[in-house]
Amino acid sequence: MSQTKTYPHLYAGREVTGDKTFESRNSSKTSDVLGIFYEATKEQVREAARAANAAAESWAKTPAPIRGQIIGLVGQAMEREKESLSRLLTREMGKTLKEARGDVQEAIDTCYFFQSEGRRLYGQTVPSEMPNKDLMTYRRPLGVVGIVTAGNFPIAVPSWKIIPALVTGNTIVWKPSEDVPASSYAFAKILLGAGLPSGVFNVVFGGGKDAAGQYMIELMDDGLIDKMAFTGSSAVGRMVGETAGRNLQHPTLELGGKNPLVVMRDADLDNAVQGAIFSAYATGGQRCTSAGNFIIDAPIYDEFKERFLAAVKQIRIGNPLETEDVLYGPFINERFYERWNEQYEWGKKDGATLLYGKGRISNDSKPEGFVGDADSGIYGWPTVWENVTPDMRLFQDEIFGPTINLVKVDGIEQAVETANAVDYGLSSAIYTNDREWAYAFKDNIQAGMTSINNTTNGAEAHMPFGGVKSSGNGTRESGIWVIESYTYWHGVNDDISGKLQLAQMDTAYVEPTEPVKVGDLF
Ligand code: UN1
Repeated sequence: MSQTKTYPHLYAGREVTGDKTFESRNSSKTSDVLGIFYEATKEQVREAARAANAAAESWAKTPAPIRGQIIGLVGQAMEREKESLSRLLTREMGKTLKEARGDVQEAIDTCYFFQSEGRRLYGQTVPSEMPNKDLMTYRRPLGVVGIVTAGNFPIAVPSWKIIPALVTGNTIVWKPSEDVPASSYAFAKILLGAGLPSGVFNVVFGGGKDAAGQYMIELMDDGLIDKMAFTGSSAVGRMVGETAGRNLQHPTLELGGKNPLVVMRDADLDNAVQGAIFSAYATGGQRCTSAGNFIIDAPIYDEFKERFLAAVKQIRIGNPLETEDVLYGPFINERFYERWNEQYEWGKKDGATLLYGKGRISNDSKPEGFVGDADSGIYGWPTVWENVTPDMRLFQDEIFGPTINLVKVDGIEQAVETANAVDYGLSSAIYTNDREWAYAFKDNIQAGMTSINNTTNGAEAHMPFGGVKSSGNGTRESGIWVIESYTYWHGVNDDISGKLQLAQMDTAYVEPTEPVKVGDLF
């Protein structure tokens, strides 16, 4: 029998072990252990940050097109390994193979986008007020970036941070989610295998609270981290923001969502129901872009509800490694299930109506579409609530799991107002074919991302990703917009006049001439 391997931290060009360990288990079959990982100590996180600091100068001086070449090689390696990496993701955290392939593809797309960004990273030349003087702007790297990520998108979301931070000349310490250390280890090995110099990219494993994640945040106070990039809860995001604030840093924060999906009376209901099913239940509802509230226009409320419930009852759920066509698999792990399960109490307490769903799926209590052994992982019933109003916790709080609320409204104005009645503002969607309603939604919704006649998900790798209100702090990931998050602007003036020329003071001044009045001419 083969023994389960123990995997080291990867920093300062070394493999580093330790004492305390934790395991990664297959979400669909918890008896299957993928690997054992070390819990980083504070001193180890500090050592990793020191290595990143030591490597910062020479990496910043490496020409950006060469940094881009390395990222291109990462993309090629990811493409080569796409299938085995996707299977590893599915095995470790339970998303379907189709979605795991999408997760890996999003990182490949990110690599290819940023490979060529290494040949752009444009600055500007700007005319000066004075002769023999040039003005220029340069993008400069920030230094050492500390990255802490969540477990629901093990490859795509870390890549949104790691890839642009590297191309723009920063060095990195990454603390991946303790829920997906195996997928993260494989991704890190691919990055390091592409030829990043020692100390440029460093990985430490471990938990968040009172562990590696928290230590990393604390290192901002020690001057060892120049910028934090975090994906996770709004509560932890605020903590990162507070520590960053007193260090005069601007962190990247990609936080929670309670994303509205509106269906108007004129919508193509077949399309809307399909989009609604995916928005609510794909990834078992464990995306930050998953829909939280369906906001349904009164005249079609009953018909939508009937068609949606019929579709919910058909959903195929099960171990995604055994059956490829399931819509969703298990919870990432027990912690996610337990947090999700609290909603049943909230709903009861607030007087919402439970239309469908019975908590945990087991071999004795399973929906028709369940395939395989329900007791070998933790699966949740697709859950639907109705008579949900904005004052209820069900409406307001992010529920990371397969749950959706049906909320009835009358007309576009009330739909937009209700969609905006949450504290979050990440993603949003509307199904309508009325040009004015679609326009009103796009123009008034408080969200960082909006789909018209598509799901609340599906951000593309070259579009800005991020939210407003409690979903973030205004930073954006992906595409050209993310570059602002990992660089600062350096304005340079270069004077070859050989004398002291003072801006504003020695600048030529054009005296106004007599004002022309066209009326006096004719
Ligand atoms: C996340 O859930 O953290 O738009 C990211 C989407 C995906 C990314 C989700 N491309 O749903």
